Amino acid sequence: MSIDLAVVPVAGRGTRLLPLTKSQPKEMLAVGKEPVVQYVAEELYRCDIHRLVFVTGPGKTAIENHFDIDGELITHLRETGKEEFLQDLAFERDQLEFFYTRQRRQLGLGHAILCAQPLVDGQNFVVALGDSIIGVNGQSQIVKLMIHEFESSQADAVIAFEEVDREEVVHYGIAKPCNKTDGFFELSDLVEKPPVDEAPSQLAVAARYVFNSKIFDYLEHTEPGKNGEIQLTDAIRTLIADGGKVLGVRLPTNEKRFDIGSFERYFEAFIEFAMADPKYGPQLRKVTEKILESYI
Ligand code: G1P
Repeated sequence: MSIDLAVVPVAGRGTRLLPLTKSQPKEMLAVGKEPVVQYVAEELYRCDIHRLVFVTGPGKTAIENHFDIDGELITHLRETGKEEFLQDLAFERDQLEFFYTRQRRQLGLGHAILCAQPLVDGQNFVVALGDSIIGVNGQSQIVKLMIHEFESSQADAVIAFEEVDREEVVHYGIAKPCNKTDGFFELSDLVEKPPVDEAPSQLAVAARYVFNSKIFDYLEHTEPGKNGEIQLTDAIRTLIADGGKVLGVRLPTNEKRFDIGSFERYFEAFIEFAMADPKYGPQLRKVTEKILESYI
């Protein structure tokens, strides 16, 4: 059976988005009409993923509540003649199964993935970072392509990348590709958040990965790295050094990654999604033009 399981880490504290994230998870911030993590779940569902394992942490229960089926709310909308809002809850009916486990100590992304190991139970799986949306409204099909390549080339891992500006490499895992980077390409190294002058390329990990269960053996033996955290990138790096087959693919140019980890990116994402909204976008674009005039 093809991969139908994704691990979605949502345990990070979101400190770069304070005070917004003081009492709500960054993954629940609104981008246009939906919270970030709903776009992620819908993207995965469209890529034939039907089981989601969330790795949560303190203050993240709003995520569990969001994906519950809220019978009381549905009845209330029906009884008060507000049926038109029912379609906004349609995502509740997607045939998705949800599993939750908790990262009890903040030891980094690699450790968060390791917390999901008992639930993954030896299967091949996707990792989709819960604070990153791929494509406007999460319309990307990249995960489907990645799964297909992972299975047909019997890779140990496939990772999505996006080209970033030179000074941005310090925020991401950066690829060292060993051949040209059209279509799928092989990696000879991966470096977590390198200084600008040491970056092997400008290809940054774009929040989507496919793995077989070998990654857990590597994560178990990964020492704390950048920022004292157990880094997923470091485990992948050792996997490559041991002869593992790790492939990369660039996001298509019309599928940007929206990384909701800082105010710069969050504001940009909100504006772009709200402007693309078929109902509210046209009016918003008009109003925005007026606002812009007042800045000239
Ligand atoms: C994590 C990964 C990094 C990756 C980034 C975005 O960093 O460690 O390699 O490029 O996500 O996908 P974080 O944003 O958690 O610091």
